[in-house]
Amino acid sequence: MLLKDIPGVLTREQIAKARMLMNKAPYVDGRATGATLGKAVKQNQQVRMGGEDAQALLDMVRDALLDREEFTGAAFPMKMHLNFNRYADGMFYGRHNDAAIVGPSMAEAVRTDVSFTVFLAEPDDYDGGEMVIYTDHGEEEVKLAAGDAIVYEGSTVHEVRPVTRGARLACFGWAQSFIRDPRQRAMLARYRHMRMDIIRDHPDSPHLDELGNIYNNLMRMWSAT
Ligand SMILES: [Fe+2]
Repeated sequence: MLLKDIPGVLTREQIAKARMLMNKAPYVDGRATGATLGKAVKQNQQVRMGGEDAQALLDMVRDALLDREEFTGAAFPMKMHLNFNRYADGMFYGRHNDAAIVGPSMAEAVRTDVSFTVFLAEPDDYDGGEMVIYTDHGEEEVKLAAGDAIVYEGSTVHEVRPVTRGARLACFGWAQSFIRDPRQRAMLARYRHMRMDIIRDHPDSPHLDELGNIYNNLMRMWSAT
């Protein structure tokens, strides 16, 4: 199952820019966009979308993720939807599933194959606020440094524990993947990784053409647009 930390997705400067926006941005109650069950268990704030400032910063985070092979080589993103959120004063998001389809309009709808959170506050800035992801192998508790991302399967049950001091700021979102089936996605990610290792370690191997041909044919067979 996909569960990956990606360190240093955002630079100090980018983190500062995002925090500046979050200090002055208008917020809406996060319950406005919870899934059906989510509304009963969700207490947080989300930046109201539509402003040019917010969109520019969301594009910045999206591009920073797309710059990282750890993300693109695992998620195979086709389109993405992002937003900023804030948890303070006891806010939390209890155990829930994300909606299968998100986005501001039908034209921009994104199937939530892969989920991610990019942390914007340092772990010392707040108490609580751990993200807990329930996997086949138990619970994973995640609280990362500002600028780091956690990427996980959109199909998982997960939660954000109550914040008891300070504020937890993050950018969160989803990617619709070119590879819809998570097993095919995981297999292709491993194949791609191995092929890149072989290209690095054995650049003169006579098998590289064949490995590349199989990789691209699997991509053609399994990708959807
Ligand atoms: Fe969620």
